[in-house]
Amino acid sequence: MAVRLQKLIASTGLSSRRKAETLIATGRVTVNGKVVTELGTKVEPDRDHVKVDGKHLNSAQPFVYLMLNKPKNVMSTLDDPGGRDTVKDFLHGVSVRVFPVGRLDFDSEGLMLLTNNGELAQALLHPRYHVSKTYLIKVKGVLTDSEIGQLQRGVKLEDGMTSPAVVKKIKRAEANSWLEITIREGRKHQVKRMLESVGHMVIKLMRVRMGPLALGNLEPGEFRFLTDREANALRALVEQRVTAVEQGEEPMAGPKRLVRREGWARPLRAKKNVGKKARTA
Ligand code: URA
Repeated sequence: MAVRLQKLIASTGLSSRRKAETLIATGRVTVNGKVVTELGTKVEPDRDHVKVDGKHLNSAQPFVYLMLNKPKNVMSTLDDPGGRDTVKDFLHGVSVRVFPVGRLDFDSEGLMLLTNNGELAQALLHPRYHVSKTYLIKVKGVLTDSEIGQLQRGVKLEDGMTSPAVVKKIKRAEANSWLEITIREGRKHQVKRMLESVGHMVIKLMRVRMGPLALGNLEPGEFRFLTDREANALRALVEQRVTAVEQGEEPMAGPKRLVRREGWARPLRAKKNVGKKARTA
């Protein structure tokens, strides 16, 4: 069946449909050896030879999305020159090449998203789209309301002020306490540095949420494929943020909406969905 050239290019994951149009318009696409610049040109995927920048278009590969509960003392990369364990060591039976979306420190644990959808990954990581990340942290000592207020409003780090955060007290003991903190940036060691700036050391850090995804009861070292609903929610979030930024709107409401004071609360939990078959999109 004939399809529009930009649709075919986008379906391989090489680019968005809009970017595919730019690739075509700027003469970077050939069909059967001839440069095609007309948008809307129809091609037969099984018959026509389409190249972008001289390279054959890969046959369309479905997108795969999975979440792993990265254990402590594991690199969040796919390989480590130092020979330490990496997230790849936990992806038993995953034949598609997926990439981690963002990083977690070696000694941090929790939700890591992995996908072969490069465009979506880039958008989720881009600071201007402000995708939220929630961390459950154990800190030395007990934060005062004034310290919590500082974190919520933003603290000064060596690379600049942090944006407003949401901080919830979870539980406290004599010598330490648990908090949940939601931020919309992804600077290196950001949560640890934020807490340090108000005089508290992070002893344990676990990412429990990323945008619409919740870690739930996934055990450290376990992974599962996202449900269709979760994958759709991720795509919808990215689309909504990209559109908002393109239209010059701030995708997020201002600090007033973000900053809430709460009493001691229960940490986030979500339904378990381990062992589901691969979901593709
Ligand atoms: N902030 C940190 O300090 N460390 C992480 O691993 C993630 C967020």
